[in-house]
Amino acid sequence: MRYLIILLCFLYQCFGEGTVPDQVHLSFTGDMTEMAVVWNTFAEASQDVYYKKIGIGASSTAKGSSEAWVYGGITRYRHKATMTGLDYSSEYEYTIASRTFSFKTLSNNPQSYKVCVFGDLGYWHGNSTESIIKHGLAGDFDFIVHLGDIAYDLHTNNGQVGDSYLNVFEPLISKMPYMVIAGNHEDDYQNFTNYQKRFSVPDNGHNDNQFYSFDLGPVHWVGVSTENYGYYYSYGMDPVMTQYDWLKRDLTTANSNRAATPWIFTFQHRPFYCSNVNSAECQSFENRLVRTGWLDMPGLEPLFLQNSVDFGFWGHEHSYERFYPVADRTYWNDPNAYVNPKAPVYLISGSAGCHTPDAWFSDQPWPWSAARNNDYGWSIVTIANRTHVRVEQISIDKNEQTVDDFWVIKDEGYTHSGEMRRASSGTKFPAQKCHFKDVACQRSLKEINEEL
Ligand SMILES: *[C@@H]1O[C@H](CO)[C@@H](O)[C@H](O)[C@H]1NC(C)=O
Ligand SMILES: *[C@@H]1O[C@H](CO)[C@@H](O)[C@H](O)[C@H]1NC(C)=O
Ligand SMILES: *[C@@H]1O[C@H](CO)[C@@H](O)[C@H](O)[C@H]1NC(C)=O
Ligand SMILES: [Fe+2]
Repeated sequence: MRYLIILLCFLYQCFGEGTVPDQVHLSFTGDMTEMAVVWNTFAEASQDVYYKKIGIGASSTAKGSSEAWVYGGITRYRHKATMTGLDYSSEYEYTIASRTFSFKTLSNNPQSYKVCVFGDLGYWHGNSTESIIKHGLAGDFDFIVHLGDIAYDLHTNNGQVGDSYLNVFEPLISKMPYMVIAGNHEDDYQNFTNYQKRFSVPDNGHNDNQFYSFDLGPVHWVGVSTENYGYYYSYGMDPVMTQYDWLKRDLTTANSNRAATPWIFTFQHRPFYCSNVNSAECQSFENRLVRTGWLDMPGLEPLFLQNSVDFGFWGHEHSYERFYPVADRTYWNDPNAYVNPKAPVYLISGSAGCHTPDAWFSDQPWPWSAARNNDYGWSIVTIANRTHVRVEQISIDKNEQTVDDFWVIKDEGYTHSGEMRRASSGTKFPAQKCHFKDVACQRSLKEINEEL
């Protein structure tokens, strides 16, 4: 009988536990005097956020919205509020129901800051989790960019793996913005419901958190969905077209705003390039169409080149790989390649830790592959100023040693462009050799050559 009562209490969330906020996390809204906060309850509740500058009395209220959503038979209530009118360089505390958290705002138009970047991190086998939380709480970076494949999967076990993951990270992501983009694992066969409901991003005007941008100091950050390409056969081409039109406008505007914001950084899940041995992944149709397009769907690389995107961060491959500046398989690998680069500089940081081990590299990397590392790990991106950006790759296997460290440097006012690329012709992609047993590689190579 006692057990029955406990069980019923568990099911019906006695003791008011169902209304205790959990999975509390912050995100940028695009306006740096604001901070969005999203949280979850398992029972209906009307909850607001009370926030104030630490040490200064007056408290403000951010009205919370609540929306029920159902996945796998579990009803969750997603709450969201936006704290507004924040002062720069200040410490705030905020209270939701009985729980209190704190965060710091950045300075006004900060010219330097640090970002934790990684992809492909699971709740189980989350090898980098402890290290990321420890360094974040120690103040080693200012916000997080998660390059898709979150929790493995947000929707597993009726969404309870997503709940657990967000609760594990809550001590960190209730203190600093957690900016995400969807990976292929975010498709929950219900229009990415788990991703859509659990995360808030800057408004893109399309009531959709699959793509967005924001400016912070010298960088225009753009999150791009590769999953509307990857899943076009499930969800149709419209999402691809909607994003493409938005992205074209967003990048064009950003490119004409270089005086204020000299860098354009993109982040997305699936890579344009990689040299992992599972060439079916690197070369698979679903990944290539993101770069080059297919049928009526335009690919993303031409837009990046036309608008001189400086950096692209990718996940999906469970490894770390740095690329030389590369434009449509033409590359520049001279010793000064990262000084006034002739094309975007891309990076895969997909080794944070998940159910499958590291992705093996092929014996023959693509010639534009500059550095590879197979350890579990995560990246710190340092925006030093308008001309200098540094990336460091931290290895979990090697006790947090730095296993890659490089700078991208560009002169004030420099952008790469088609004209510049033609003037300083790089090396054209030489014929790739596939292992004679690697049928997928041979097939895709044939397609590439037919396309050329
Ligand atoms: C996904 O969204 C579309 C358009 O809103 C809708 O027609 C469809 O039923 C949804 N599918 C699922 C599985 O929720
Ligand atoms: C930008 O940062 C780099 C690296 O820290 C430094 O060497 C350089 O002097 C800085 N430039 C300016 C204009 O502050
Ligand atoms: C990664 O995590 C798995 C599962 O927790 C563990 O067995 C393995 O030893 C870890 N590897 C490293 C290098 O930390
Ligand atoms: Fe993936």
